[in-house]
Amino acid sequence: MAITIKTEREIALMRQAGKIVARVLGQLVEAVRPGLKTEELDLIAEREIRLLGGTPSFKGYHGYPSSLCVSINDEIVHGIPGERVIQAGDIVSLDLGAIYQGYQGDAARTVGVGSVSLKAEALMQAAQGALKAGILLGRQGNRLGDISAAVQQYAESKGFAVVREYTGHGIGREMHEEPLIPNFGSPGAGPILKKGMTLAIEPMLNAGDWRTRVGSNKWTVSTVDGSLSAHFEDTVLITDGDPEVLTVV
Ligand code: MF3
Ligand code: CO
Repeated sequence: MAITIKTEREIALMRQAGKIVARVLGQLVEAVRPGLKTEELDLIAEREIRLLGGTPSFKGYHGYPSSLCVSINDEIVHGIPGERVIQAGDIVSLDLGAIYQGYQGDAARTVGVGSVSLKAEALMQAAQGALKAGILLGRQGNRLGDISAAVQQYAESKGFAVVREYTGHGIGREMHEEPLIPNFGSPGAGPILKKGMTLAIEPMLNAGDWRTRVGSNKWTVSTVDGSLSAHFEDTVLITDGDPEVLTVV
């Protein structure tokens, strides 16, 4: 299927979905503390999404068992919540998706627990900055490659590597729609952005090698070299003016 252009009605529902995701993600960020089991975060996520009238989108997606992904330190994405206990000094990536009346929102944040290393702090800052740099180029008339290139340039200028095997994506009725949005690329390449496109932009940055491996649970993706990783994601609407971030409270 080609890249879909959303109607005003669809955009209104995606704003609602985005708001649910952003609110619950904010609560989860506040809840992270040493001693908490990651499955406790998952319980909060599901409960709060449902309280706001949404449905968790990850649960059951290709058999994924939880409402939330929690990826710690060298884990990049798709960490399954469980008995693991969060420790001071960890960096914790939280990735959350919700459906509201048939429409999707998807966002991620990485948070430091207590005081973290300078390297970890710089990595998180760079991942957040790379997302912002990418979003800024999400304008009608630009090319998709402009976003990808901006993310890559920002990340690499800070001395970090972008993950290549996982990408951002179009989003709407489905969590994953066209196009794929790599976190590396060339300015001027790829499809032209149009008003009404909705994109989940999601840089994953590693402190070391960009390469990844999938763990024995078949889901959790980690860095090959054990280096730290950070992940920031927002769902963004292309307009005829400035990009509109939909995953805001
Ligand atoms: N937020 C992730 C993404 O953007 C989705 C998590 S995968 C799931 O692709 F299986 F957990 F849903
Ligand atoms: Co996503």
